[in-house]
Amino acid sequence: MSRLPPISRRSFLAQSTALTAASTLPLGALAQETMITRAIPGTNEYLPVIGMGAPDFFYEATEEGSEIPKSLIQTMYDMGGRLVDTPAFFRPDPPVLAGYMQEMGLHDELFMIGKITVDGKEAARQHLERTSASLDKRPMDVMLVHNFRDMENSWPVLKEAKAEGKVRYIGVSRTNDVSNEELELFMRTENPDFLMPGYNMVQNQHEERILPLAQDMGTAVVVVEPFRVVDDGAYFSVTAGIDLPEWAAEFDCATWAQYALKYIVSNPAITCVVTETSKASHVADNMRGGYGRLPDEAMRRRMSEHFLSLV
Ligand SMILES: NC(=O)c1ccc[n+]([C@@H]2O[C@H](COP(=O)([O-])OP(=O)(O)OC[C@H]3O[C@@H](n4cnc5c(N)ncnc54)[C@H](OP(=O)(O)O)[C@@H]3O)[C@@H](O)[C@H]2O)c1
Repeated sequence: MSRLPPISRRSFLAQSTALTAASTLPLGALAQETMITRAIPGTNEYLPVIGMGAPDFFYEATEEGSEIPKSLIQTMYDMGGRLVDTPAFFRPDPPVLAGYMQEMGLHDELFMIGKITVDGKEAARQHLERTSASLDKRPMDVMLVHNFRDMENSWPVLKEAKAEGKVRYIGVSRTNDVSNEELELFMRTENPDFLMPGYNMVQNQHEERILPLAQDMGTAVVVVEPFRVVDDGAYFSVTAGIDLPEWAAEFDCATWAQYALKYIVSNPAITCVVTETSKASHVADNMRGGYGRLPDEAMRRRMSEHFLSLV
């Protein structure tokens, strides 16, 4: 594990309103800390353990304008986050997000993931090119084939793009609809750089074989759907009105969002988890899940049992 440079006091104070709702630690204590990072296996490149997903308004200009999207990105960045995922069915016109990143001076700082969701080699090549152009990322940091779609064509295109230096890392995303056997065979034969599964205390079908295999093989794992319990975000309907157990303080957890996220990133196979939200206060809350102590294995079991008793 390594640490990024500490958050500056100015940046920290700039979003302290959002933080107040998210943390019970005194301001001075948090300002000294940095977010936990994990290496992309086999490299010296480190990613902060909490990243951000992709609300639609990152990609389509809305009447509300750029204020909210920019405040979400800035809050993530100020609190040490770097990874931004893009939606699976991102049709990247016009390049709204690239403009925001450039206006904010963060363009080169963020680590971005795109997906291939088209059929045929030529369509896949064009989709990769459009994604890269619209995000103004050359090379793209990561491109994933979404849900094994047209793997016969999409995967060779990604391998070719990596060999040509158009993309740095390649892999597959949202693999919960693919059987574990198929995924394992793919991992063993193709050795992808990245895997993007759904994973949380309820959605844990990859825990026994796939996540340990990823760890053994040196595959980075970016988790999605941290708050999905049947439906997106439904985790919070389960926890609404219920106090956190007192023992959550033992791993520096102040909110139910942090409880879910600390459970995920305390699995040693996980490189990063992305969350989606439309509120800067929730970004701050979620980023805080990457700070402080993490639960050990016994505590993880206790967390899971406790949460499942509430469902
Ligand atoms: N492989 C794939 O292609 C794939 C598949 C699914 C998802 N994803 C990625 O994963 C990201 C995560 O999205 P998800 O769909 O899995 O959603 P999620 O992050 O599990 O949940 C999002 C929901 O949780 C709420 N929320 C977030 N933080 C909160 C907090 N601190 N307190 C209370 N409520 C909170 C949000 O509401 P508010 O807006 O009110 O905060 C929203 O309703 C997506 O943006 C996408 O980038 C990728």
